[in-house]
Amino acid sequence: MEGDSEEADAEKVREILCNDCIEEEEKAVLKIAFFNTKDYDRIFFTKLEEEKGPGTYNCELTYLESRLTRETASLAAGYDAVCIFVNDDASAEVIDILHQCNIRLILLRCAGFNNVDLEACRKYGITVLRVPAYSPYAVAEHAMAIIQEANRRLHKADRKVRENNFALSGLLGVDLHNKICGVMGTGKIGECFARIAKGYGMNVLAWDPYPNQKLAEEGLLKYVTKEELLQKADLISLHVPLIMGENGTYHLIDKDAIALMKERVMLVNTARGPLIDAEALIDALKQGKFQAVALDVYEGEDENVYNDRSDEALPHSITARLQMFPQLVLTSHQAFFTREAMQAIAVTTMENARNFNEGKDPGNAKVV
Ligand code: NAI
Repeated sequence: MEGDSEEADAEKVREILCNDCIEEEEKAVLKIAFFNTKDYDRIFFTKLEEEKGPGTYNCELTYLESRLTRETASLAAGYDAVCIFVNDDASAEVIDILHQCNIRLILLRCAGFNNVDLEACRKYGITVLRVPAYSPYAVAEHAMAIIQEANRRLHKADRKVRENNFALSGLLGVDLHNKICGVMGTGKIGECFARIAKGYGMNVLAWDPYPNQKLAEEGLLKYVTKEELLQKADLISLHVPLIMGENGTYHLIDKDAIALMKERVMLVNTARGPLIDAEALIDALKQGKFQAVALDVYEGEDENVYNDRSDEALPHSITARLQMFPQLVLTSHQAFFTREAMQAIAVTTMENARNFNEGKDPGNAKVV
């Protein structure tokens, strides 16, 4: 009898210890190496923590200025997760190093994941979570802003007026009203852009391999083939993801696609640089094909994007050559950059981290 009660006591102790273990596990703080930190990242993530109260997400962020690359990946040693952005390098080689550092999670502070080698992540069981949507309005509004800046030569006009040159030569634009807008990719951002274009009085044609018939039914746009869109549109805006390989979107706009376009067409890209073959674009720009081109993203941006190079020349770079054209406006991958989007990015990133840590379903944030 005595033996029985001892065993029962031992069982109770085991239970208590086990419960403590579970509590301990729940309390484990997720250590995150936050790569490529800019002042604005720190502001929005710190503000969120202040608002929600310390410990809300049970995560510890260490802000690193370095971009994630092969050279910097080993900085992830001692952390559970890395938090990265669009211009960080998460290629197979880098994932390999992250795996050696015992990284279990990659938190993307963006929607696109073309910079992450998903196969390598699967191989090592590294989870990849993204921010599927933060503000499609931010991107669509930027797209219309920069293509209008290029079309109405506002970038030149501002400079001229500041130099007391009030002449209008070289500033002639075209109306958008009654023109045809071609939207390539009618997901969240493409839909917003279509609504903005409609607001300008444009007729909207769209192409998407997975059409959203609701948009057609409500009369917002009409789906056509890619070729028809390229042939008919006066303004083309790209909103598809970058997908490599067969049926992908790499060089969606190449020499042949440009040849199909109208003379004096307008083209805007706020999706991903390699959707447009930059060499083909430069050739066509030289021939005067475009009324206006506006690029927030472009091939070759990775070496410059988010860096201040104002004291340097940009030898042999695509960016330097694009800068030559007066009808072209360039911004540096900033379409997402609004207060609302930054707040949403901070919230979703931290929720993703907490869900991972607590073993909860991350929903459509999950990439791998
Ligand atoms: P989404 O996922 O809502 O829409 C993407 C659309 O592309 C969908 O309608 C889909 O059917 C279509 N699509 C999928 N596979 C395709 C293929 N192989 N060929 C052609 N179309 C295909 O994405 P969302 O939120 O509208 O974003 C679009 C893109 O914008 C993102 O992939 C990202 O690259 C870019 N982006 C750029 C930002 C910037 O700051 N410049 C910020 C946020 C997103």
